[in-house]
Amino acid sequence: MNALMNDIEVIKTKHSKINEVDFDHLSFGKTFSDHMLECDYKDGKWQAPKVVPYAPITLDPSAKIFHYGQSIFEGMKAYKDTDNNILLFRPLDNFKRLNISAKRLAIPELPEAYFMEGLKALLKVDSDWIPKNEGSSLYIRPFIFATGKGFHASPADEYKFVIATAPSGSYFAGELKVLIEEKYSRSANGGVGFAKAGGNYAGQFYPTQLAIEKGYQQVIWTDDNTHEYIEEAGAMNIFIRINDTLITGPTSDRILDGITRKSIIELAKKEGIPVEVRKITVSEVVEAAKNGSLKEMFGAGTAAVISPISGFGYKDEDFDLPKLENTYASSLKKRITDIQTNKVEDPFGWRYRV
Ligand code: PLP
Ligand code: COI
Repeated sequence: MNALMNDIEVIKTKHSKINEVDFDHLSFGKTFSDHMLECDYKDGKWQAPKVVPYAPITLDPSAKIFHYGQSIFEGMKAYKDTDNNILLFRPLDNFKRLNISAKRLAIPELPEAYFMEGLKALLKVDSDWIPKNEGSSLYIRPFIFATGKGFHASPADEYKFVIATAPSGSYFAGELKVLIEEKYSRSANGGVGFAKAGGNYAGQFYPTQLAIEKGYQQVIWTDDNTHEYIEEAGAMNIFIRINDTLITGPTSDRILDGITRKSIIELAKKEGIPVEVRKITVSEVVEAAKNGSLKEMFGAGTAAVISPISGFGYKDEDFDLPKLENTYASSLKKRITDIQTNKVEDPFGWRYRV
């Protein structure tokens, strides 16, 4: 056992809520497990992480998170296999991305052991909260935010790192119709689009509400400069299949470097699917929809897994995608979830046993 692991203090709740949860009908991210990991940054360093009962956090009204939005987060999932092993998927990639986000938001970077050992200690305490039903998992939300006080618009001197978890089912209910955005932007060159910064999501809510009012569930973001290139969806990277080729846009400082995205690229290549990582224009997708070569579109992300898109809207016109029997989306989703839940071998070394 790692030295730090012995050092993680665990304060257990006296009132478990687990019997109040219907594990057969889980929604996404609405029920929270009994404990959370908490770790404070003060006096110029990260203090020892602790597992504590899940509870509200009290902050000073001048805490900089409230005023300047200095906050970042990650999204991961824990699974259980038939032998009750606790499994994670590429967790070090989430840790690395958290620190990439931290650097961009001027938040002090977190030591790897605090993240990994803290997460493992939390999952062991709340092991019974990891659902075993197919399609469900324990959604893990690590986040860091500025607790330091003061109205001066500068980085805080104190922060809190928390990992909260929620037994969850599917992110989207039913089919996904998306709207290709022509006016608003999610991110800009030189901005924070590549980081998982809380503000990136707040900025999407209004344009997404407008899309929902028109009957779509998600916006497909286009580049901020010309709105001619497909970038990503609100909570997912996006894949487009034209004839037999699977295409996704290259990452940039406007796009989140999704762990599901890069896994899908590797999996598809291994399955012999032709994959192109290149810029995709909206007009190419509209043209392909019109001439019948557009076969599939799907979003990919931790929460969304692989979510097939049934149609899209663009400039007041709607386009339906064909209903194919055997889709890349369903075969790739099966491959990736089978690897995650230890149903098949993992030739990539992505699965991580806690
Ligand atoms: N793009 C955005 C904006 C996201 O919020 C997410 C979700 O985390 C993704 C893409 C997919 O990333 P990942 O596969 O690492 O979850
Ligand atoms: C995830 O997929 O884990 C995310 O963080 C996306 C979030 C907006 C639900």
